[in-house]
Amino acid sequence: MTVKIGLVGTGTVGGGCLEILANHAEDFRVDYGVDIQLAGVCSRKPDKAREYGVEHLFTTDYRDLVNNPDIDVIIELIGGTGIAVDVIKESMAAGKHVVTANKAVMATRGEEMFALCRKHGVQLFFGASVGGGIPIIGPMRHSLIANKVSKIMGIVNGTTNFMLTRMNADGLSYEAALKEAQDLGYAEADPTADVDGFDAAAKIAILASLAFHTEVRMDDVYTEGIRHLAPFDFALAHDMGYAVKLVAHANLVDDGVFVRVHPTMLPLDHQMASVNGVFNAIYVVGDSVGQTMFFGEGAGAGPAASAVMGDVVELARRLGMGIPCIAGSPVKRDLSIVDMDELETKYYIRFQCADVPGSLAACAAEFAKAGVSVKSVSGSTKRGDVDLVFVTHTAKEADIRTAIKGCLALDGMVIGGFPVVIRVEE
Ligand code: HSE
Repeated sequence: MTVKIGLVGTGTVGGGCLEILANHAEDFRVDYGVDIQLAGVCSRKPDKAREYGVEHLFTTDYRDLVNNPDIDVIIELIGGTGIAVDVIKESMAAGKHVVTANKAVMATRGEEMFALCRKHGVQLFFGASVGGGIPIIGPMRHSLIANKVSKIMGIVNGTTNFMLTRMNADGLSYEAALKEAQDLGYAEADPTADVDGFDAAAKIAILASLAFHTEVRMDDVYTEGIRHLAPFDFALAHDMGYAVKLVAHANLVDDGVFVRVHPTMLPLDHQMASVNGVFNAIYVVGDSVGQTMFFGEGAGAGPAASAVMGDVVELARRLGMGIPCIAGSPVKRDLSIVDMDELETKYYIRFQCADVPGSLAACAAEFAKAGVSVKSVSGSTKRGDVDLVFVTHTAKEADIRTAIKGCLALDGMVIGGFPVVIRVEE
């Protein structure tokens, strides 16, 4: 089977794909019987074509690839929801299959893209949209299909995992950890998508849609980032037997699905607690398989290109087997998104309080008034004023918010503003 591909975007991942093609095309022929041939490359940067020796296939207009009748598959690696959407839609309308790494499109307009697949009888593969090189989309769509998945937890953002690892292991401040991540090229100059949790939110929306067969969009995901954390929180968490990670959660519950991204305390003996540095891990619980965990590099040229080219080869094999369109929507149900107020878990809440008589008692009284049972209270004056840390028994998010609101309204007691809140996973 010969499959001709058109590559749109020659950034980090696109370059990685060209390298894989140069190194492994023969393996694809020998091992899988598919002959993947590059038939066109589109980029805004002609020098990239020279760098990769593909000048003869180069264009700056993606329509040249979309309109090329020889091309079977378009690989979209521009990213974002601007021109990338045009590339995907126009490619499908022209009868071309699409492989993309675009989490933003899949997390915001996935259903629309699946509908277009059905309309045009083409296939859409998006294995690189979550977890970089970790094969997780394939298992969610195929290998784990015999399961009712009840829970996913993911460390799906390498940048923040690197920062949290440095803050935990070496006591770096948030600012110092961010600067180091930027210096090493992990974090963008504007780090918002990573540190505020939006990148992780897009990824868990994609995974939850696949796992629960319902439409989950990025906007449905309750999202908190890591800006407010301090090394102090890691030290206290460690003393309590926990690691602090930015975790993306998806849970199937009676009323629907919970999807949320927030700093989470994980027991130190949980497999995910020892996932450090830029690594990602995705933990999936299914009724047949039990617990599974997928681990690997979640970003970078090699890992992401590995996922893209894996999709290309799998797509080529399907075409060779004469399977015309498998890219129906994963959505079969219409489950509701459960409001975050309904969450029930344990909480770590750290207020910065004035070191005056009665501040602890006054805050504790607000927890009691809200019906929240406190498991322990600790205090530290290490940082000047008092850090008062409340750890609760299982409580409802809505009640926790009431308690926090009450504490913030106490005259002159809480001086550090909104407290650090870390939800505790058992
Ligand atoms: N910025 C992401 C991360 C990689 O740090 O994991 C792209 O999704």
